[in-house]
Amino acid sequence: MAAFTTHHHNQAHLLGLLPTAGPKPRPGPFRVRMSLQETGPSVAVVGVTGAVGQEFLSVLSDRDFPYRSIKMLASKRSAGQRIAFQDQNYVVEELTAESFNGVDIALFSAGGSISKEFGPLAVDRGAIVVDNSSAFRMHDDVPLVIPEVNPDAMKGIKVGNGKGALIANPNCSTIICLMAATPLHRRSTVLRMVVSTYQAASGAGAAAMRELELQTHEVLAGKKPTCNIFQRQYAFNLFSHNSSVLPNGYNEEEMKLVKETRKIWNDPNVKVTATCIRVPVMRAHAESVNFQFENPLDEDTARDILKNAPGVVVIDDRASNNFPTPLEVSNKDDVAVGRIRRDVSQEGDYGLDIFVCGDQIRKGAALNAVQIAELLL
Ligand SMILES: NC(=O)c1ccc[n+]([C@@H]2O[C@H](COP(=O)([O-])OP(=O)(O)OC[C@H]3O[C@@H](n4cnc5c(N)ncnc54)[C@H](OP(=O)(O)O)[C@@H]3O)[C@@H](O)[C@H]2O)c1
Repeated sequence: MAAFTTHHHNQAHLLGLLPTAGPKPRPGPFRVRMSLQETGPSVAVVGVTGAVGQEFLSVLSDRDFPYRSIKMLASKRSAGQRIAFQDQNYVVEELTAESFNGVDIALFSAGGSISKEFGPLAVDRGAIVVDNSSAFRMHDDVPLVIPEVNPDAMKGIKVGNGKGALIANPNCSTIICLMAATPLHRRSTVLRMVVSTYQAASGAGAAAMRELELQTHEVLAGKKPTCNIFQRQYAFNLFSHNSSVLPNGYNEEEMKLVKETRKIWNDPNVKVTATCIRVPVMRAHAESVNFQFENPLDEDTARDILKNAPGVVVIDDRASNNFPTPLEVSNKDDVAVGRIRRDVSQEGDYGLDIFVCGDQIRKGAALNAVQIAELLL
């Protein structure tokens, strides 16, 4: 695993191209840190050595999230590993049921089976769990939250209530899609949405990112690519999303977009269909989204709505053919939207096409979860 302090700066030359949504600038070397404070909650990061876990630390730091203590938890394999965070040294501990004693907020990103086993144990011990896996997303009593979209779903859940709780972070493709779709949906109800995704390696974790890099070197050197994560060549290729294919022919990732949208919008009638594709991009997802609206919504109005939407930036320059790219949004908080145009296949202004890019380790996972945690304070 790359050291936390360096890994998210790999594309530092790309930083600064977009305005960022985060309220705080990246910390400079001489900034006084206010986040380690007695009045803050006690935090645990489960899966801290993973792609999302590392980003949790980055986001907590960038946003000056207050905490009085922070526990670094992972599997036995990583126990004992050292992590430097905000000028303190921590040792990674093996996750056990006892890990959650005295913990107020537990940020989980260690896979669905770990969430299923340890999430309820953490809640029993009074922790509020913000879970990045799909384990609890569709449970009726678990809020599924994008803070810009449906913060009310977690109303009443607060640190200090003396009660544990579970809150689910939506799937990364769902978050990125709905960041752009929701402001439009609020103006004119979306009747049907067709989503096609172009998903990055990072969505499959740190090992998939390493494998894409390795394969790229191997293929360029004329060698046979190492295929451990996806069982097929990923470099210079693309393929249908690696999640299981269900009896209806959709894969799980596609059905997450369908079901999670209905839950987050609290609209069982919205029609959603999706095709999810893995592309050899390192870090951020792209999605093409087509809408059918109940009432007309012209493209200029849609562009204005998106320009004013929190956490969204519009890059839509037809003259120079400049639109969002995964590289431009990598390590950024904002979701970028472009290619905003009337769908010529539909009557009048009832249809619209957009193209969205978002860093799914950040807004699609760690940032969204930390924003949820901020609502708990
Ligand atoms: N990548 C994304 O963009 C993304 C987006 C949304 C949600 N998620 C979800 O977040 C979770 C993690 O994803 P990731 O991409 O960060 O994966 P990853 O890079 O493979 O990291 C997995 C993490 O889980 C830990 N872990 C594995 N087995 C464990 C065990 N038995 N006990 C404790 N910790 C264990 C690993 O610790 P060791 O280092 O000790 O193995 C590591 O810290 C998954 O549920 C994924 O679906 C990921």
